[in-house]
Amino acid sequence: MRAMEVIIQPDIRQASWIAARIIARLVRDKPQAGLGFATGKTPLALYQFLSEMHEKEGLDFSRVTSFNLDEYVGLDPSHPASFHSFMEKYVFSRVNIPRDRIHIPDGQAVDIPAACRRFEETITASGGIDIQILGIGRDGHIGFNEPSSSLSSRTRIKTLTAETRKDHAVDFGGEKNVPFHVITMGLGTICECRMCLLLAFGKKKAGPIARAVEGPITAMIPASVLQLHQSAVVILDEEAASDLKKTDYYRWVYAHKPAWQKY
Ligand code: PGA
Repeated sequence: MRAMEVIIQPDIRQASWIAARIIARLVRDKPQAGLGFATGKTPLALYQFLSEMHEKEGLDFSRVTSFNLDEYVGLDPSHPASFHSFMEKYVFSRVNIPRDRIHIPDGQAVDIPAACRRFEETITASGGIDIQILGIGRDGHIGFNEPSSSLSSRTRIKTLTAETRKDHAVDFGGEKNVPFHVITMGLGTICECRMCLLLAFGKKKAGPIARAVEGPITAMIPASVLQLHQSAVVILDEEAASDLKKTDYYRWVYAHKPAWQKY
């Protein structure tokens, strides 16, 4: 059983390549794997690698089931800023996950609590999520679990913070157009995934990463709940790692990983 593991790489490309290798190994070893996807800028290089692995090496996603962390409430899935559109553009049009095994929270559901319950039931019925990819927000959120989210929360509706709405304004042509509400997998749901792969790049993520990895576990920094996870791998570039105190130790551990544990 491992705990939280921190891997620091020189740049986004090398960090994303490690994440891609971890996912590719899972899909080869367990073709019917459950994969949890995230949206945002952070996983773009990872998704590029996965599509290249599919195209050039025949990495086969035909038995994979996928789940996404979140979606805006009330937004048409065809809206360019929806996470449905994001996933279509960067993942689903490029790898062969069968359409009927793709699951994204339904932000247009008439009965949102029922849709959230169904989403959770589908995760359980499919056998669970083997690897959940995560980014981190400036306020320490994972998924759209904003600060003060219960550490045991399930999939539900959340209200975005002003800071998060600002961060997404560019996708909507202005802050006033950003929805206030989202459906997000809960922190309890995320913690049930067999492995969490948290990626963070750039100076803006240094503060939240230091608080999540080395600070106290608190609902004020939702990503800090990953300290309790049995297998959380945090993959960073140098900038995102720059506020961490124990970087020498993380590098030491990574350099001395037993061969059978290497990614
Ligand atoms: P980003 O978003 O990958 O676009 O930085 C991460 C997040 O807010 O979870």
